[in-house]
Amino acid sequence: MKNPHKLELINTSDGSHTLRLVGADEQYHSVNGALQESQHVFIQAGLMKIIHDIKPLNLLEVGMGTGLNALLTVTKSVENESVVFYDAVEPFPLDEQWTEKLNYTGFFPGKWVSQAFEMIHNKSGSQYNNLYGLFNFRCFNQKIQELKLETDHYHLVYFDAFGPDTQPEMWTDDVFEKISNSMKFGGILVTYCAKGAVRRAMRSAGLKVERLPGPPGKREMTRAEKI
Ligand SMILES: C[S@@+](CC[C@H](N)C(=O)[O-])C[C@H]1O[C@@H](n2cnc3c(N)ncnc32)[C@H](O)[C@@H]1O
Repeated sequence: MKNPHKLELINTSDGSHTLRLVGADEQYHSVNGALQESQHVFIQAGLMKIIHDIKPLNLLEVGMGTGLNALLTVTKSVENESVVFYDAVEPFPLDEQWTEKLNYTGFFPGKWVSQAFEMIHNKSGSQYNNLYGLFNFRCFNQKIQELKLETDHYHLVYFDAFGPDTQPEMWTDDVFEKISNSMKFGGILVTYCAKGAVRRAMRSAGLKVERLPGPPGKREMTRAEKI
């Protein structure tokens, strides 16, 4: 599907890029540091909590966007020699016009990081693509509302939709119920958003919700566990 938004590339406070939705006061990441936000919310509060215990690890990302979370996950999968099956959902994949401008690979040494980033942005469909015998990636170019998800499958969910003010249809009881059904008991979901209404929607979907300190510029984030 064609991306419905007019985009512009911007620098965030830690020097990493993000994309802004022109005219919507919304970005793909925090302007206080895209890389720091991804590391804090998705990698430290999510992936690193379970990567040593669960092998292989089934991971769902809702809203893959620039691929930053996926790229950081590849680096951790390789560093920790952990097998990850990464299912990304992105109905509006970014054109090369944008992905080739993003400066994320420059933060990590090694040619393989560029190869990983390229693969993340060029593979879609239901077949897994394997990197280094560890990271297995596929991307569904569909809306999460339309995608059929396997039940009792995911150990970890990165919920990285645009905010509830921009995209309220992503933060509903129905969407969280669908995701909760796809999670294993004890599985966790992490998101940068800590709004009360969002936490209530998660609770009604059978998730136990925890507030954690947020990344730079944000007081809190949310981690939820399927109970
Ligand atoms: C906040 S941005 C994602 C940031 C991303 N994780 C990254 O690292 O760049 C939200 C993403 O959700 C995608 N999106 C929009 N509607 C969606 C839907 N119905 N289902 C899944 N993703 C959606 C957008 O296209 C966008 O890429």
